[in-house]
Amino acid sequence: MSKNIVILISGGGSNMAAIVRAARQQDWAGRHGIRVAAVLSNREAAAGLAFAREQGIATEVLDHKAYPSREAFDAALAQAIIAHDPALVVLAGFMRILTPAFVERFAGRLVNIHPSLLPAFTGLDTHQRAIDAGCRFAGCTVHEVTAELDVGPILDQAVVPVLPGDTAQTLAARVLAQEHVIYPRAVLAHLLQK
Ligand code: GRF
Repeated sequence: MSKNIVILISGGGSNMAAIVRAARQQDWAGRHGIRVAAVLSNREAAAGLAFAREQGIATEVLDHKAYPSREAFDAALAQAIIAHDPALVVLAGFMRILTPAFVERFAGRLVNIHPSLLPAFTGLDTHQRAIDAGCRFAGCTVHEVTAELDVGPILDQAVVPVLPGDTAQTLAARVLAQEHVIYPRAVLAHLLQK
């Protein structure tokens, strides 16, 4: 049985690359038919596309600006995803808000990583907001995607310290290193349960 992962990116794709590597390195993942089948992006300039192509993974770009509405873009995106028979759709730095119809269509097989310890700091600028709030700890959360932004059931989290003198950039780098640990772990674990 195959358990295809389809990953959506908009930028660097370092979380996507971590998931690709993990799926290939874990023998048991292969035995369970788990593989990254496609990487889709809404931006041609997304640096992660080059990595995916080098790995021999199918890629596709759907430029959201080429569609008349959010609904039209999401409908095209859903078609592109379904072509790869996904067991799990993974948002990895995908910087588009998805319509309720899209989320409903992939209910139970759509996950995201958010760079905060949810339920704290939903939305943008999470690292600066954690610093400004005087948090001693920050982190990241893998969660199922539901219609409300950054609110679905939590699958995994990692915690990092906020250190004296941290900027949003230094904190983001510390959090991102943990994203690369927990996102592959959560994706593979989620697929094993299916
Ligand atoms: C990550 O910090 C993720 O949590 C956020 O955007 C960043 C994406 O990084 N939503 P990358 O594209 O995976 O390198």
